[in-house]
Amino acid sequence: MKHTTPNRRAFLKKAGLATAGLAAGPYLSAAPRGTQPLVRNYPIQTAANDTIQLGLIGCGIQGIYDTRSALSVDGVRLTAVCDLYTGRLQRARELWGDGLFLTRDYRELLDRKDIDAVIVATPDHWHKRIVIDALKAGKAVYCEKPMVQKPAEGHEIIAAERETGGILQVGSQGMSSLGNEKARELYKAGAIGEIVMLDMYNDRYSAEGAWQYPIPPDANPDTVDFDTFLGHAPKRPYDNTRFFRWRNYRDYGTGVAGDLFVHAFSTLHHILDSQGPVRAISTGGLRYWNDGRDVPDVTLTFYDYPKTATHAAFNAAFRVNFIAGGGGGGGFRMVGTEGSMEVGQRSVKLSRTALGMAPGGYSMVAQTEANQEALNAEYAKTLAPGREALLDLGETVWEAPREYKGAHHDHFFNFFDAIRGNRKVVQDATFGLRAAGAALLANESYYRGEAVGWDPSAMKLT
Ligand SMILES: NC(=O)c1ccc[n+]([C@@H]2O[C@H](COP(=O)([O-])OP(=O)(O)OC[C@H]3O[C@@H](n4cnc5c(N)ncnc54)[C@H](O)[C@@H]3O)[C@@H](O)[C@H]2O)c1
Repeated sequence: MKHTTPNRRAFLKKAGLATAGLAAGPYLSAAPRGTQPLVRNYPIQTAANDTIQLGLIGCGIQGIYDTRSALSVDGVRLTAVCDLYTGRLQRARELWGDGLFLTRDYRELLDRKDIDAVIVATPDHWHKRIVIDALKAGKAVYCEKPMVQKPAEGHEIIAAERETGGILQVGSQGMSSLGNEKARELYKAGAIGEIVMLDMYNDRYSAEGAWQYPIPPDANPDTVDFDTFLGHAPKRPYDNTRFFRWRNYRDYGTGVAGDLFVHAFSTLHHILDSQGPVRAISTGGLRYWNDGRDVPDVTLTFYDYPKTATHAAFNAAFRVNFIAGGGGGGGFRMVGTEGSMEVGQRSVKLSRTALGMAPGGYSMVAQTEANQEALNAEYAKTLAPGREALLDLGETVWEAPREYKGAHHDHFFNFFDAIRGNRKVVQDATFGLRAAGAALLANESYYRGEAVGWDPSAMKLT
């Protein structure tokens, strides 16, 4: 949908306040105030009938959360689980019972005719190969984010998606939330005017937050298939830390950008109907977690977004800090010419204030008395009584109801609904590459030590 909100500020200057107030964007007088319930503007109906049989490939932390969410959708049954560590296969039995088919070789799972769909929740460096094999085996695929470890891999997945006609949903689940949906609706209605900046941050202050996940005491070369884990990465001797904390190594993961920025890009691109940035410059360093990792624990990246049919040109600032002394927290704030929005999965906070145009007390000190009087008089002529009431100034918070099942449920609901033929997936391979590609630009810039360019339409480094 084309976004047509006029640039009201520019208009104000040209036409004067009184007429501009009435003629400006569609958001005028349209918004409620205070706290409002968050509701979806289209119904999510209960999916029908035929049971979908699911296989899980990669039964680690996210594979388990994914499977729980998948099974919260009606008509889905878990049939098989694949993992390279015996403890995770045992965990699958503890969680989902004895009837499961268990294997260390994902190809055995793909060979099963009774499986309709698979979740791919392995480390990032395995995504491409397993996703393509699964599509070619006729399975619908839910692939965890980031869809790829390297941008070029995305084109191979897009080709496989096209050639097989298969269904692929990428797993940045937050985008399917009520909060993201509301933010999109508000942005389209002109609630923040034209976007000027995005401010995203994710601060952490714990070992777990910094990816120091526990290493199981029974992990050893008998219980872990380390050579298969390495895949196309360089060969190395057995190493529990690399296997269980793979995110900390460039050979297997994608750093904070591929892990955390990518969610924000999915949300941003959805809200704005954007294809992505054209340039990134990144800095940071390894400041604290000197545990053998070769990725930074502090990353700051600035992105340039060009003007398109759906949004103005703007800049985005992304920051992740794994040693946020004093505490953690995160935010995703869109700043526009007329307001700002704090976007979450369960809430959106919209703030609108009038742009201060009065000749201020600060600079008037350098004006003669006579000039102060003249400037104030000039300004007073531009004021129209009652205009502020038309602008819906103030703060409005939308909140999801307590019983809302959340984004993860909705994202799987959409995936299974697409398999049943009712709807399209919301994150196909092209969407997945645009989100992952934008995120991976941060790494490209950081390791090259210079700004890097990206063609968001062709999805290629420039
Ligand atoms: N959507 C989200 O919010 C979210 C959150 C966390 C992680 N993730 C993504 O999920 C994926 C998994 O992350 P995690 O935290 O669960 O990691 P994890 O290490 O806890 O789990 C990965 C599992 O994959 C298994 N594995 C490795 N190679 C395999 C192979 N070739 N075949 C079968 N199994 C294999 C490992 O044994 C391990 O149990 C990553 O891509 C990550 O970026 C997404």
